[in-house]
Amino acid sequence: MRFLVTAGPTREPIDPVRYISNRSSGKMGYAIAEAALEAGHEVILISGPVKLDPPRDAKFVLVSTGDEMFDAAHRDADSCDVCVLCAAVADHKPAKISPVKIKKRTGNFSLELVPTRDILDSLGHRQDRQFLVVGFAAETNDMEQNALQKLRAKKCDIIVANDARLGMESDENELMILFRDGEMRKFSRAPKRILAHELVKIFLEFATKMFDKKNQMITERT
Ligand code: CTP
Repeated sequence: MRFLVTAGPTREPIDPVRYISNRSSGKMGYAIAEAALEAGHEVILISGPVKLDPPRDAKFVLVSTGDEMFDAAHRDADSCDVCVLCAAVADHKPAKISPVKIKKRTGNFSLELVPTRDILDSLGHRQDRQFLVVGFAAETNDMEQNALQKLRAKKCDIIVANDARLGMESDENELMILFRDGEMRKFSRAPKRILAHELVKIFLEFATKMFDKKNQMITERT
């Protein structure tokens, strides 16, 4: 199968020297890309700026802003069977990018922010999609409730929830996996590399079921 994985943070420029970003390390997404390659799959890794080496055998697409990541993901999604959206895309970006460095002011200063486009939401809602959509939910509280809400609202097949305080820059994570059909699985704290292998197995199992069902429906119709 072919995997598309998004990973890392995005950077939303304010002016030529400043941007809005977050602390995502990209480790979970890169570990999933590696695990899928090790299991013999093709991988397209779309990554924001991180301090990791790209996996050697992946098609690697380096992006900076959420808009660039959105375009790259939409360009490649249809050629993939499994889309895993692991990136910590900034939810907002400056309404205007100043072409010159903004000078220091004495008083308070506010910046107008506008929402970025949600990649997971737009892929999840694609009516004709032939690929599995997996989202991630980084939560600090009410994990199950918030993740379930994201699963439904963004129409994903699977959502992988984790504690943002534990997972952001660490090599370890603790996961709760919620499925479209109501099933739930939990993984206690373990290295991201180990968790990634388990996740790839789960994604494949679900994708295979989804494609078998589709093929069966097509055969019944013909
Ligand atoms: N996501 C995305 N595009 C965005 C924002 C989020 O594709 N513009 C995806 C992330 O890659 C992740 C999922 O949506 O798979 C959930 O991201 P998260 O940051 O946990 O949640 P948000 O939807 O941004 O909501 P909130 O910040 O309120 O928790």
